[in-house]
Amino acid sequence: MTKETGIRIEPITDTEYLRALLMKRWGDTLLMGGRAWPCEQVRAFRAIDPDGGLLGFVSWNILRATAMVFTLDSHKPGLGIGARLLDAVAEAARREGAKAIRVMTTNDNTPALFYYQKLGFQLVGFFPAAVDIYRAVAPHLPTIGHGGLPIRDTLELEKAL
Ligand SMILES: CC(C)(COP(=O)(O)OP(=O)(O)OC[C@H]1O[C@@H](n2cnc3c(N)ncnc32)[C@H](O)[C@@H]1OP(=O)(O)O)[C@@H](O)C(=O)NCCC(=O)NCCS
Repeated sequence: MTKETGIRIEPITDTEYLRALLMKRWGDTLLMGGRAWPCEQVRAFRAIDPDGGLLGFVSWNILRATAMVFTLDSHKPGLGIGARLLDAVAEAARREGAKAIRVMTTNDNTPALFYYQKLGFQLVGFFPAAVDIYRAVAPHLPTIGHGGLPIRDTLELEKAL
């Protein structure tokens, strides 16, 4: 449950708006499940405050009955925004017949690893040097992450729907 009142979650329907959001963080081509996802194939929800300010967004799509969450960003930590965005994906994906929800993070991002496990996700995949491979198609991906660690590998976590 969102701990701050008045926050609403809504789908992002404008591809150019989504592209602009993604470009600020990750670039407009996302990589997961061994394939590239151009912005046009990415779905998203955003969290909005009562004044229309952006509080966070999640990008995702369904692959083989699994909701693949490409990115999750909360601009106001600890208010339940991340959890609400993931709930919105889970609900939409369940309605479309998905059986699981899968998230991805990188080797350096120990806060996210902790966070997802706290929300009930279990580790299902470790892909050594995956980010190095992804850089061939997405050269903008950062090389240094949390605590100055090199960003190299991806980890995937999953939860049944
Ligand atoms: C990870 C992230 C999405 C969490 O979003 P959030 O809105 O702060 O998370 P929530 O408010 O939904 O948190 C839910 C619970 O997890 C806890 N939590 C949140 N971030 C945490 C962290 N880094 N470590 C430990 N616990 C954390 C919250 O305290 C809360 O616990 P509670 O319900 O017992 O109080 C946010 O910190 C973020 O945007 N990080 C940068 C981008 C990123 O790493 N994304 C994920 C990988 S792509």
